[in-house]
Amino acid sequence: MANNIGWIGLGRMGEAMVKRLLKAGHGVSVWNRTSAKATPLLEYGASIAATRQELAACEVVFTMVSTTDDLKEVLFGDGGLVMGGAKPQVVVDSSSISQDGSAEIRARLEAMGVAYLCTPVSGNAKVAKAGKLLMVSSGPKALYDKARPYLQAMARKVMWVGEGELARIWKIAHNTMFGVVIQNLCEITVLAEKAGIARHVFLESINDSVLGSMYTRYKTPVLSNLTFENVTFTPKLLLKDMDLGLSTAKAYGVAMPAAAATRESVSRLVGRGYDNIDFSVLLMETARDAGMELKPEDLKISDGLET
Ligand SMILES: NC(=O)c1ccc[n+]([C@@H]2O[C@H](COP(=O)([O-])OP(=O)(O)OC[C@H]3O[C@@H](n4cnc5c(N)ncnc54)[C@H](OP(=O)(O)O)[C@@H]3O)[C@@H](O)[C@H]2O)c1
Repeated sequence: MANNIGWIGLGRMGEAMVKRLLKAGHGVSVWNRTSAKATPLLEYGASIAATRQELAACEVVFTMVSTTDDLKEVLFGDGGLVMGGAKPQVVVDSSSISQDGSAEIRARLEAMGVAYLCTPVSGNAKVAKAGKLLMVSSGPKALYDKARPYLQAMARKVMWVGEGELARIWKIAHNTMFGVVIQNLCEITVLAEKAGIARHVFLESINDSVLGSMYTRYKTPVLSNLTFENVTFTPKLLLKDMDLGLSTAKAYGVAMPAAAATRESVSRLVGRGYDNIDFSVLLMETARDAGMELKPEDLKISDGLET
């Protein structure tokens, strides 16, 4: 692949990821539906495309949008990337989307002679900004090998899990666990606090136990200080991922009772109008269900990746 990259989607994740490519010295042309989000990237050396189809001149175009339908729209909708005369050689998508939707997109792209690599990611925008994402790909192995240097500019680790849409299954499984863990972490934290243990003390003990993880450590400051306005991932996006998890479980005949309960819990957050707020606001609703109104603590933030 030549040093000729296009980028579609400059939300929380896309903006952070494209900056890593630019900082690594790659030449990138960007397009975003809300064009004002592209302007700040000029000072990082990006060029701004007026239309998606301008990016068809690039050899590889990365996409990072919200849902399966949004990806179809940017590729195949009116004025879509591949709907003009020119086509890019490769599309690399990092959105969290369904396996079936991804397979349909692959079939349409490959029929047009455009190669397609799925590369969903683990890590929030701060992790992306620090170049510490985990990027997991599926699709033709030779294509992954060619795309690898670009992926490495954005990630601490890159992996290939197999052909076709297997990386979508990886991401769906990953985010189902992401939801179930925050659900349970909120429940046990409310239980501990209602019984009398200070929230940050309880979370510190979990972090230092065999159950602690990078994730529980990242979420400890926000759960202690109740700073949900620092949005890493919204309730709506998490609901989308829980739905993807459950529909995939249905398709493969796998019972997922913990994921099913978590889906309903996240659904009530969305139904109550929580939007543009961090998904870990789930703690507040869990506390209210227990008859508690939580107060912020004052835990100092240490490593800069947590929110
Ligand atoms: N946030 C995280 O921690 C995280 C981590 C891993 C994976 N993900 C996944 O990464 C993807 C992006 O997440 P995000 O947090 O960056 O979301 P976001 O901040 O909401 O950004 C979404 C991006 O998609 C664009 N978009 C959405 N629908 C579109 C459409 N129909 N046509 C054109 N552009 C459209 C938006 O354009 P506008 O600017 O015009 O709205 C924006 O650039 C999602 O699939 C999410 O599940 C997120």
